[in-house]
Amino acid sequence: MKKTKLKCFVSATYFLIVFISVVKSSIEEQTDVKRSDFPHGFLFGAATSAYQVEGAFHEDGKSLSNWDVFCHVDGNVVDGSNGEIADDHYHRFMEDIEIMESLGLTAYRFSISWSRVLPRGRLGEINQIGIDFYSKIIDNLLLRGIQPFVSLFHFEFPQELQERFGGWLSPLMREEYVYFAEVCFRSFADRVKYWVTFNEINLYSEFAYEKAMFPPLRCSPPFGDCASGNSDVEPLTVAHNLLLAHGEAAKLYRERFKSKLDGLLGITMSAFMYVPLTADENDKEAANRAMAFNVAWTLDPLVFGDYPPEMRRIHGSELPIFSTEESLMLSKSIDFIGINHYTTLYAKDCIHSTCICNVNDSSCGVGSDRAVRGFVYTSGYRDGVPIGEPTGMSRFFVVPSGMEAMVDYLRERYNNMPMFVTENGYSYPADEDNSLQLHDVGRILFHQSYLAHLARAIRKGADVRGYMVWSLMDNFEWNNGYGIKFGLYEIEQPTLKRTPKLSATWYKDFLSNSTISDATISYNHESGLQSQ
Ligand code: BGC
Repeated sequence: MKKTKLKCFVSATYFLIVFISVVKSSIEEQTDVKRSDFPHGFLFGAATSAYQVEGAFHEDGKSLSNWDVFCHVDGNVVDGSNGEIADDHYHRFMEDIEIMESLGLTAYRFSISWSRVLPRGRLGEINQIGIDFYSKIIDNLLLRGIQPFVSLFHFEFPQELQERFGGWLSPLMREEYVYFAEVCFRSFADRVKYWVTFNEINLYSEFAYEKAMFPPLRCSPPFGDCASGNSDVEPLTVAHNLLLAHGEAAKLYRERFKSKLDGLLGITMSAFMYVPLTADENDKEAANRAMAFNVAWTLDPLVFGDYPPEMRRIHGSELPIFSTEESLMLSKSIDFIGINHYTTLYAKDCIHSTCICNVNDSSCGVGSDRAVRGFVYTSGYRDGVPIGEPTGMSRFFVVPSGMEAMVDYLRERYNNMPMFVTENGYSYPADEDNSLQLHDVGRILFHQSYLAHLARAIRKGADVRGYMVWSLMDNFEWNNGYGIKFGLYEIEQPTLKRTPKLSATWYKDFLSNSTISDATISYNHESGLQSQ
């Protein structure tokens, strides 16, 4: 009897030791990453977008954008805030560029506000003050060895175009966009080497025309109860117009501007990774479908000239058709894929089993997608357990391996086309201890572990050429206002003073290949992550 007890004790201790060392080594493996793990010339940067940081919403000739107008309607933004002042980057861009230089960034991704450059679209004049503003940013970045990485469309455009054409439901927006792109190429393509035509066509089409979170707030049941819209069809029409606008701008860039710097033009997409909820074959298929309905929806046309077969099978004639010329124009129209990756979600099949979640069903819980697309129900939870540590965004969980899986997926589907991680970032849950906002160990661990998995994907052969932290500084987080913070720098209200968080120090050390002292970050096996 005694012998058996001893045996049990020895084996329990043995398993405990093995368990602890596995946990420890997996943490070390996940966060042990150095700049030198990345290829020579790999760009390390940070990203922002015009409406989220610039402010100066009605200054120096800028017109009102769709977001300026949207934020003024009660209830559209949780804290009733807007981007009128935002981080006042419009007036403080020199200070912000100095911050970037001090961190050692080699790239800065930002967007050009359409309403600052062409306040009335094609109808009106070019606003030279707007052009000069971006010119100064570009020149000052280059002076400091920082590559400007420019997005042309990051969710906002002149409100006048929304009113004149009804926004992106109209194919007429394409000509407007191509003119805007031409003005930007003409003004900056002699200095800007990296261009992003659109930020997240997939997310924009869904948020604005399916789920009614972004202007113009259109949707239909079961996705939401809007005054007007058709959630089944309109996102498809909008994405179609955006893709064709991309194709026309890409053609123009290649014909007239690319040769100036031998620049690269690509697109970014919202890149959620999906994994099956269960080992069931139907859920595996559902995860594949979720990938097709999300990233491949807007990438397949730009690489192969048509929508994913998985979507065609389900949508049939609802999915718009590209003519032969359009298909030729679109295929191979990107030089790189921009990956905005934050999280991984579970996918559950809704063809062979019933998906109980609909708009009136509160049992779905936080982090679930209440209505389904492509007969897939997606959620961050399995049996009430989150897929990774929850964050400030209800649908974002910390799942570092998803970064590697995402890059593997894109590498395979698109024949290892060049890729840049154009956004990756972390926000603390809102109820978290406020002191963590500056002493943001969670953010450091997030970036370290996602970078470690990115490095693994690169070691396996993926052609990834850059990584941008979202975001350089806390900013206007769309419908979530200022409560959700992604920045390496804190923006103090109301002074707008920039203060580096611990993560800024970490990034700087990482970029100079030194390590933040072990006394600053440690892991306690009983209580989790600790800061000292
Ligand atoms: C957008 C950013 C946004 C970030 C965090 C991305 O989808 O491009 O503008 O701030 O997600 O929500």
